[in-house]
Amino acid sequence: MTTPASISATGGPHRDRAHHDPAHRDSARRDTTAPGPVLAAQSVHRFFRAGGQETLALQGVSLRLEPGELVVVVGPSGSGKSTLIACLAGLDEPDGGSVHVAGHQLTHRSEPERARLRARHIGVLLQSANLIEHLTVSQNVALVQHLGGDAPRADPAGLLAALGMSPRAGAYPAELSGGETARAGLAVALANDPPVLLADEPTGELDSTTEAQVLELLARITARGVAVLVASHSPAVAAAADRRITLADGRVSS
Ligand SMILES: Nc1ncnc2c1ncn2[C@@H]1O[C@H](COP(=O)(O)OP(=O)(O)OP(=O)(O)O)[C@@H](O)[C@H]1O
Ligand SMILES: [Mg+2]
Repeated sequence: MTTPASISATGGPHRDRAHHDPAHRDSARRDTTAPGPVLAAQSVHRFFRAGGQETLALQGVSLRLEPGELVVVVGPSGSGKSTLIACLAGLDEPDGGSVHVAGHQLTHRSEPERARLRARHIGVLLQSANLIEHLTVSQNVALVQHLGGDAPRADPAGLLAALGMSPRAGAYPAELSGGETARAGLAVALANDPPVLLADEPTGELDSTTEAQVLELLARITARGVAVLVASHSPAVAAAADRRITLADGRVSS
């Protein structure tokens, strides 16, 4: 189980868990520490038709995400960043191409199957945040852990402490500042100790000091072996990333 220390520790809880807990039966999780991408997208296409107009939101996007790397997706508004994150998370089903996470095919599956794989393998932080308004921060974390079933879980109190959210654990989302909302969203995204974290504009609403704190957190999460992909317009996020993927009109341009 994840402890507060594991967020700041190097080496990674996935490896530690496999090492210290030989009885751990989740072979799919151990796959994530094997060499190779933990997330792979192959020629993903997504079209939207609205009001007689067709938008080619994604036109054959391929990418690979390795454990322990922080990758930023940049590109102008409308270039397809959020659509890509939704397809990588299994929140949306692409019209063509495939997505694999931790060795499992995520595309061409039913919505409940995608939800199960997501709960187990992917933390998601969306542009509109991922908190349920009538639940407190700690209740939001508990709900996601419940939905994760037998997924490996972070220790909720430790997770909130590591994110500096212990004093706000009993607060409702409407009572949080922008930075606290981002950190609570991260707590929810990390509640099931996922090998992949996808975040859409996680620092979009934050001042530069709070943004720096969130980036520091993302760096620590990456350092313990989680593959992190962030869509962002922020130069600070781009500067903090190991690698940059640029989208233009639904295609990877560099
Ligand atoms: N549900 C939808 N129906 C119709 N068109 C859509 C839908 N979702 C996205 N689009 C269109 O697909 C394109 C890509 O949108 P997307 O939200 O992925 O862009 P983005 O790069 O995230 O932009 P931003 O930087 O403004 O967040 C845009 O032209 C958008 O209008
Ligand atoms: Mg977007």
